[in-house]
Amino acid sequence: MVLAALLRLYTVNVVAAVSPSPFIYHRNVSSTGQNGGALGWVREAVRVRGFLGALQYYCAGLLEVLRDLTPERRRSRYGDIEYDFDHGVDTTWATVSLRTRLRELLSGGQYQPTEPELFDRILQNVPVDADGYTFIDLGSGKGRTLLMASDYPFRRIIGIELLAELDAIARENIARYQSENQMCFAVESHVGDAREFRFPADPTVLYLFNPFPEHVLRTVLDNLRESLRASPRPVFVVYHNPLHERVFAGCDWLHPVVRTSQFAIYRADRRS
Ligand SMILES: C[S@@+](CC[C@H](N)C(=O)[O-])C[C@H]1O[C@@H](n2cnc3c(N)ncnc32)[C@H](O)[C@@H]1O
Repeated sequence: MVLAALLRLYTVNVVAAVSPSPFIYHRNVSSTGQNGGALGWVREAVRVRGFLGALQYYCAGLLEVLRDLTPERRRSRYGDIEYDFDHGVDTTWATVSLRTRLRELLSGGQYQPTEPELFDRILQNVPVDADGYTFIDLGSGKGRTLLMASDYPFRRIIGIELLAELDAIARENIARYQSENQMCFAVESHVGDAREFRFPADPTVLYLFNPFPEHVLRTVLDNLRESLRASPRPVFVVYHNPLHERVFAGCDWLHPVVRTSQFAIYRADRRS
């Protein structure tokens, strides 16, 4: 019943007003993905968690969404609005619509932007200069990390976001971003499932702010390993809010270089 109610609330697929990317995107990432939208997400949740597990997961998530509607919770979410004022963008999680919150619940992710101070601390801990590296955020939401990364001399910056409405906002943010410190202007946001992303053969800093459940994280890391086998190169993986760190612990080709309670950074073997 709960699943049916959620699906009714979900209504139709979002048709996002997505402006064409200023960059030619040569990797295939489809907007509906292999799972075919909301119904596919629910089917997948049932497959991975079992029927009762999925029901439990969706009930708990729905309760959390309802709690978030209380004035206190809503107010607390505006705590990060300063970044948006400073840069003329919309990256706060306070303004994510109820409809998007429900789509997040169905898809198994939730948007929350990285705090600017923490982001700078994380990048200072990556043991290479940004120069010559491509920054990739899988699960990039409204694109705040893409903007923050553009204040570093990355060669190129790519974000992939599952929800079309968040990707559309990210694209607007990229166009509107104001920063005297901006050093990289090759910034792209794309809609798609991270599992379908084909990594470019560049030296890479891959950024993951706990965007996926464990089974998706495994697939993404398997894809990265395949890509490294095909094109050996330096790659660092940042895992912010390392909830499923055991997935990394099971990858003998990824070596922790920094570990804190808030984030971990891994160096990948060049030839995995
Ligand atoms: C915690 S937010 C992080 C946002 C951004 N990376 C940041 O740090 O500011 C995680 C995002 O991952 C997205 N996501 C979840 N599953 C995904 C998938 N399979 N492919 C792409 N994005 C996904 C969610 O929609 C959400 O916007």
